[in-house]
Amino acid sequence: MRGPKHAHSDRDKIWTPENIAIELITKIPAMDGDSWCDCCLGEGVFFDNFPTENKDWYEIDLGEDFLTSNTKYDWVVTNIPFSQPKVFINKMAENCIKGFGILCLANSMTAMRLEKLESMGLYIHSLTVLYIREWGFGYRTDFYVFTRDEQPNFGVVVQ
Ligand SMILES: C[S@@+](CC[C@H](N)C(=O)[O-])C[C@H]1O[C@@H](n2cnc3c(N)ncnc32)[C@H](O)[C@@H]1O
Repeated sequence: MRGPKHAHSDRDKIWTPENIAIELITKIPAMDGDSWCDCCLGEGVFFDNFPTENKDWYEIDLGEDFLTSNTKYDWVVTNIPFSQPKVFINKMAENCIKGFGILCLANSMTAMRLEKLESMGLYIHSLTVLYIREWGFGYRTDFYVFTRDEQPNFGVVVQ
């Protein structure tokens, strides 16, 4: 039997380097007092660095399943399990009030998913393109921040 190709063959459990999480959190246009949620805690690198004590987390391995939660937060921000983009994109959109920040494989953010987010009133506010060498695979990952503000310089066409 072939062994795992990469050091991190389970891409649902790869941890974001702390300096990257800190940088990505600065992309969230939050106001003082806003509530934050890390919906995929892992080892807590996003949660620990949120700039507030008004924060919550979910982690399936600790018995807290985000996908069954209906609690809403101003901001939902995390690095998702890469094998489940659709359900996490939809749930983060459903459970955010002001917006969400999602780190995912670049090809996970399809035109159809962007169109659905627009129909829910969520638009790309910023995009950070990442290539994290220590993850040991060749795919680009992206960090998208979605907010309720429609952006004139970004469009989605599905025809
Ligand atoms: C790619 S890891 C990222 C962890 C952390 N956010 C980071 O950036 O280092 C995704 C995490 O989501 C957790 N997870 C998977 N499904 C979940 C669910 N339904 N609810 C909450 N956490 C979940 C996994 O156990 C894993 O710890």
